[in-house]
Amino acid sequence: MSYENQTCISRVQSIYQIKYGKADLYAKSPGRINLIGEHTDYNQGFVLPAAIDKAIYIAIGKRADDEIHLTAADLDESFFISMSSLTKSKVDWPNYIIGIVVELKKLHLQVGGFNAVIAGDVPLGAGLSSSAALECVTVFALNELFKLGLSKLEMVTLAQRAENQFVGLQCGIMDMFASMFGKKDAVIQLDCRSLEYHYSPFNQAGIKIVLLDTCVKHSLASSEYNVRRKECELGVSEIRKNHPEVNSLRDVNRKMLEEIQNSVDLKVFNRCSFIVDEIKRLQAGCADLERNDLVAFGEKMYLTHDGLSNFYEVSCHELDFLASFSKANKNVLGARMMGGGFGGCTINLVKEEAVTDFIEQAGIAFEKEFNTKLKSYIVSIGDGTSLVSID
Ligand code: GLA
Repeated sequence: MSYENQTCISRVQSIYQIKYGKADLYAKSPGRINLIGEHTDYNQGFVLPAAIDKAIYIAIGKRADDEIHLTAADLDESFFISMSSLTKSKVDWPNYIIGIVVELKKLHLQVGGFNAVIAGDVPLGAGLSSSAALECVTVFALNELFKLGLSKLEMVTLAQRAENQFVGLQCGIMDMFASMFGKKDAVIQLDCRSLEYHYSPFNQAGIKIVLLDTCVKHSLASSEYNVRRKECELGVSEIRKNHPEVNSLRDVNRKMLEEIQNSVDLKVFNRCSFIVDEIKRLQAGCADLERNDLVAFGEKMYLTHDGLSNFYEVSCHELDFLASFSKANKNVLGARMMGGGFGGCTINLVKEEAVTDFIEQAGIAFEKEFNTKLKSYIVSIGDGTSLVSID
């Protein structure tokens, strides 16, 4: 039984009804967490994400003309555009949908005009991939509505292209993959080079996944994210001078890294160093999970945070503060900043009996330090993108 937020469903249903009549179908696509393996996806490494029980919902229906009419219920905003002139909007949110249509059209698929209403409970800008969820729910709903015949993997790669080429973030594949392929109570071990994946049960007995949201909006995220990607590519091209067989940091070992230490900028060296370690750490972390050793796994999460903060430099004071706060609490097995960085959430594995106290104490400490409220979400691992049936 998949999790569904009835309030969101009712909202998209009733707004659609008022504006356009009866919707043709409903779908949802979740946000994601990532246990370990950060910034490794675009370096052809591994990631360990899972879909969560928070999603973006869509009500959608065909139109007789070639227009796209959209409503974002949570923002109380509407937008329309013609299929014949699909250009980037100054308002952000429609671009995730337009980008999908642009990519579908590139494949010469028959997509006509449509109405759509969206709503959701994935916190925006919190690093939980609300944008990937929006892209995935859009491509999934359009695939159903116009019977396009795309596979899940084709939809995932299409959504990634929409983000890369239309929205302009050179993101990897993790977020869309997790949103589309998520499975209840399982983490996805994804090899971002071969796109082979398998589900591993995540034994949450006695443990809760708690996200602490700094509410720092990651405004640097897209520009600095693209810079990180370039820095990694620079490192690879330097290594390739002596090792032409190397295609990505996935293929790099410590010795190869040391060879370029004096020929690249320290920043580039540090970025590459973090990724090489993180790919290894994830593999060791998967072995910890197989043994159900969450203590060893948690220690690796703290090491990931240190690397992201000091070597990859994608953290911020608020995230560092929360990671240190968690590290000092014996009821937290592991914690780290999660996602692209520069704001958003930390992910914390917390002993169930201590969750309430932990959230309260973190809130007090955070407010004292930054004079601002901390938000928190206790999440469960849920299913990926699907249709939603309305009674
Ligand atoms: C963002 C990107 C992902 C991934 C993470 C960092 O969420 O969209 O592709 O690179 O950052 O791991």
